[in-house]
Amino acid sequence: MPAMAFAESGGGGKDSPAKLTSQVIVCTIIAAFGGLMFGYDIGISGGVTSMDDFLIKFFPAVYHTKHEAKENNYCKYNNQYLQLFTSSLYLAAIVASFFASISCKKFGRKPTIQAASLFFVTGAMLNTVAKNIEMLIIGRLLLGAGVGFGNQAVPLFISEIAPARYRGGLNICFQFLVTVGILCANVINYGTSRMHPRGWRVSLGGAAVPAIILLIGSLIIVETPTSLIERGKKDEGLRTLKKIRGVDNVEKEFEELLHATELAKQAKNSFRNLMKRSSRPQLVCGTIFQVFQQLTGINVIMFYAPVLFQTMGFGGDASLLSAVVTGLVNVVSTLVAIFTVDKFGRKKLLIEGAVQMLIAQSIMGAILKVHLKSTNVMPNSYALFVVVLVCLFVSSFAWSWGPLGWLIPSEIFPLETRSAGFFFAVSMNMFFTFVVAQSFLTLLCQMKSTIFFFFAAWIFVMGAFGIFILPETKGIHIDEMNERVWKKHWFWKRYFDDGDNDKGDQDIKADQPEKQ
Ligand code: BGC
Repeated sequence: MPAMAFAESGGGGKDSPAKLTSQVIVCTIIAAFGGLMFGYDIGISGGVTSMDDFLIKFFPAVYHTKHEAKENNYCKYNNQYLQLFTSSLYLAAIVASFFASISCKKFGRKPTIQAASLFFVTGAMLNTVAKNIEMLIIGRLLLGAGVGFGNQAVPLFISEIAPARYRGGLNICFQFLVTVGILCANVINYGTSRMHPRGWRVSLGGAAVPAIILLIGSLIIVETPTSLIERGKKDEGLRTLKKIRGVDNVEKEFEELLHATELAKQAKNSFRNLMKRSSRPQLVCGTIFQVFQQLTGINVIMFYAPVLFQTMGFGGDASLLSAVVTGLVNVVSTLVAIFTVDKFGRKKLLIEGAVQMLIAQSIMGAILKVHLKSTNVMPNSYALFVVVLVCLFVSSFAWSWGPLGWLIPSEIFPLETRSAGFFFAVSMNMFFTFVVAQSFLTLLCQMKSTIFFFFAAWIFVMGAFGIFILPETKGIHIDEMNERVWKKHWFWKRYFDDGDNDKGDQDIKADQPEKQ
């Protein structure tokens, strides 16, 4: 297996060889197709719900409101059922990610990824042939199960097979394919919106493609050494580790994995363990990070960009086209994160991202407040300026809170709480995605442009969180986070004070050798 060898510097696993092998690259790319499924789905619903053929078939009342003379700019799409179409997927994903966390631990990351693709293919097919709203919603629920399983297993899978030094960039391949999925969906919607009356079926059916690629690709990926060792398959774990590192001297990393697995075994019930005081730093940071990611307001743009642009007076085609432009900005900007995250670290990207998002979101709110009243058409130059601001907003999200929302929660938990902790993070993401999807059109109708200031206020809070509370995890081995990050952090170290820990924690600590 050809391998590019690099000396490990800084980070954890100092003595273990750090090679970025083609095995790791191929496995990462295949697994990241889980991101493409997720992204495709995010991007497709906004375009489909603005297609007249789709509305006439499933939501005739919305169709009529949309075409009423003198409609209110901010309220044309306000309909709970229409929002349920978008958001039902995320409800299913929350439930599914709970089962996926159990499946990850019991059966491994690889079968969980395979289950994700099966759910997704079935859901996409059902949506394509949907004859009534029930079929449509059941299809969405199956897609949601696919997203829940995929989003739980894929980031963990990538973080576990990646050498510490490249973990950031590799993990962000997941988010990169999320953005590619969103872009593909936008382009497909642009084309299918002209295919009357069944274009929407093509859009929804397209979701099966990434899922089939993932299903076939998953036959050749490895299981992570961590998961193999965790499930008692030590020899296979060692063999796989040698294979993915491309060398035979993997003793140091193997020892770290054995040690982490030993601790994980003592913990027994990872959900109970997660409630201990010493798990609080990772639990709080992992889950709050995902909540913050959604409170940037990114999905207002992702789900409703075509609707939003129509609200501002663009015609149907121009709206979808603008959504394609933002999709492209999203993809290109995510590449920036891939190449900088392991160089500059997580915190610098997060802080820059928050500042840029805050500026873009606030100016956008101000322009809409002044120039978009309930019944006027916004002057074209301002509408175009808003598109530019949306692009600035999307680019900053794409190299900061977007990819790091998946990277950080997947790398901060010790093995004994990893699947359970990541479940909390994923389900928070899904829950808040659901809340935003379900409420945005109603909030837009009621709060009008003020909604953008609401998101801007949250961006301010999360910027402060990034500066003061979040530790830097760049280059640290995934199984050394407690020792090298949390126990040394000015705020979080108090959760590891001997006197404050409960007995279970102390048992585990007693077993832990001192590491520097
Ligand atoms: C978020 C999604 C969002 C997407 C946009 C992901 O990281 O979880 O909610 O739509 O980024 O690129």
